[in-house]
Amino acid sequence: MAKAEDSADEDTTTTSGGPPAFGVKLGSTRTVVAMPDGGDVVMAQDLTCLTSYGNALTGEDEYLYGEEAATMYPEEVEFMLRSGLPEDDDRAELASAFFEHYVESLGIPEDSVVVYAIPSIDNQPGIENLETVIEDAPLGGTLVRSYPESLCGAIPALGDDLEAIDETFLSINLGSTNLEGCAYRHGEQLSPFATGAVSGNEIDRRIANYVEEETQGRVNVDLTTAREYKEDHADFDDFSPFTDVIQQPGGGSHEFTIERSVMDAVDEYVDEVVDEVANTFLPNLANDYMRVYRYALSRPIVLTGGMACVPGVVSEFEERLSEELQQEVEATAPGEPAQAAAEGAQRIAQRLVEREAY
Ligand SMILES: Nc1ncnc2c1ncn2[C@@H]1O[C@H](COP(=O)(O)OP(=O)(O)OP(=O)(O)O)[C@@H](O)[C@H]1O
Ligand SMILES: [Mg+2]
Repeated sequence: MAKAEDSADEDTTTTSGGPPAFGVKLGSTRTVVAMPDGGDVVMAQDLTCLTSYGNALTGEDEYLYGEEAATMYPEEVEFMLRSGLPEDDDRAELASAFFEHYVESLGIPEDSVVVYAIPSIDNQPGIENLETVIEDAPLGGTLVRSYPESLCGAIPALGDDLEAIDETFLSINLGSTNLEGCAYRHGEQLSPFATGAVSGNEIDRRIANYVEEETQGRVNVDLTTAREYKEDHADFDDFSPFTDVIQQPGGGSHEFTIERSVMDAVDEYVDEVVDEVANTFLPNLANDYMRVYRYALSRPIVLTGGMACVPGVVSEFEERLSEELQQEVEATAPGEPAQAAAEGAQRIAQRLVEREAY
């Protein structure tokens, strides 16, 4: 049965029409891409790193990317966004090389609508370098837009569509290099706050130090191992001590058990996040926008970013922040916090396609 087109402003474009819509997050640890697949959206991710080596036959430089590079060349692999953004031209070039390779390996077409989830940190040269990487990349020929990562990441937490854009709420992004906080009012950023002092990377460094202490100096782990311990074992609901084995320089191996190092570090992390939120971000917001502050605190605070993946971190944050503020607050997180920014960006891209905004 044919449906009459009775309204000029009715959106008749379907998801099957128009250019394909992608959401991308170029993160300092991982790059995440949300891609349309039939009527669904599928996620792809890889570590944001590369390394080069001399080809043994030709002597020419060859490149390895992502997980493969990190696994094969753990000591020399370059995470070119280590500080969150490409710091200089060389890092921007490496980021471009990595991203171009990744986009091609995923088969993303040039004629596409792409929304990037980008950090809201006060680093103009870094943001400009990131823009160069985005401009040079072989996708988004139809349209490219950027939205704040902590907004994109909150989208999947607040509904199945783009409800977040119509709401007023607080978003706290728990990333590898930065802690970011922001109030959103219908998509507008209010009182954005960022600090590099509280970060997932810092927790990895701390875990490495604590492991050394806990094993009486017998075990030194590199930062990749420390990060893996955190990602695999940190758990506020149900942590169990775990064992690992190192090879000793003179031969033989040493098995050790980690009971405290990981949880001590993530426990301190939550305290530090709460401290920054309660004592810097929220007072700034209250000072700038008192009513928004009051309203937003009566709504769930959205935690986004990879460190929100730690099981139980949302309720720990909620309890400790409530205590610090002496007021009951609620918190929530998207189902997959480390992928949510790309997912949210993809929904925006899809909406731009439906609106034929290109
Ligand atoms: N399952 C997990 N459990 C614990 N931590 C995790 C997990 N997954 C990712 N992380 C941590 O989250 C951090 C990465 O978060 P995210 O991907 O949001 O950062 P980013 O966008 O690359 O960094 P930034 O925005 O600070 O530049 C890393 O410290 C990573 O180890
Ligand atoms: Mg980030």
